[in-house]
Amino acid sequence: MNASDLSPFGVEVDLDLSAPLDEAEQERIRELLNANGILVFRGQSLTDADQTRVMGLFGKVLVEEGGHREISRDGNLGSGRLLFHSDLAFTPEPFKLLSLFGLDVSEGTETLFASCERVVDDLPLELRDRIAKLRATNVIPPSQGERLVGHGSPADLPQVTRDLLVNHPVTGRSLLSVSEQQTARVEGLAPEESDGLLADLFAALYAPANVYRHSWRNGDLVIWDNRALQHARPDQTATPRRRMRRIAIADKTFFQLCPQFAPDDQRIAAWGVGGLLDLARSKPIEPPTIP
Ligand SMILES: [Fe+2]
Repeated sequence: MNASDLSPFGVEVDLDLSAPLDEAEQERIRELLNANGILVFRGQSLTDADQTRVMGLFGKVLVEEGGHREISRDGNLGSGRLLFHSDLAFTPEPFKLLSLFGLDVSEGTETLFASCERVVDDLPLELRDRIAKLRATNVIPPSQGERLVGHGSPADLPQVTRDLLVNHPVTGRSLLSVSEQQTARVEGLAPEESDGLLADLFAALYAPANVYRHSWRNGDLVIWDNRALQHARPDQTATPRRRMRRIAIADKTFFQLCPQFAPDDQRIAAWGVGGLLDLARSKPIEPPTIP
């Protein structure tokens, strides 16, 4: 198995995933993922069952009853811009790993990845010391494409407060836990000070030297650690074809983690295809349903 470095981080692995892997191969790709945060496999031919089998080597595959597993420009998540985020980072249990498989993508289709780990080493020492004592609050973002979280985000929305620097649960390495899409505020700071600090951290996190840009081809499988990396999508409304299959490793679904919303809530359905999370819409919040 050959593995070559991507720039500025990540690894491309030359391995046919359509047949079962032996023990040594399984162990090697788990090691590579923990060490690099993202693996790219090109030229694959993978059914849904194949991708599920591969992801099962890393943990418990999330089976969402009736949920979307396919992302397309006219379906789940649409094709507009998505700001950097980690899936479900506004809950206590963000998804662990994510994978996307390129089913039918045209040239120019991209996904961007920023490393929450590498950035910590690159921060000025003074800034790193300062944030080591601070906590920040992530809130479900009303918009996935523009920064609409802030100091006035309602307290009854799904949200979580955690240290700005957290340790990865598997590797133990230090991670910066703020994102432009989801982090509303740094706790204990005045709004202007909090906004200024977040702007400095976002500038470091999303600097080109800390971002891997993946240009999609049909047959690409990309697997990444959703805790160590954030992902984003440039506006792709001009890209004619963009159909991918997403499979996640997680213990709980969105609705288990966000009991404020019932699985049939139309506001979440509209948000899921790229619209605004419109809390003023008339449908009342149903009692929590935990499958
Ligand atoms: Fe996402």
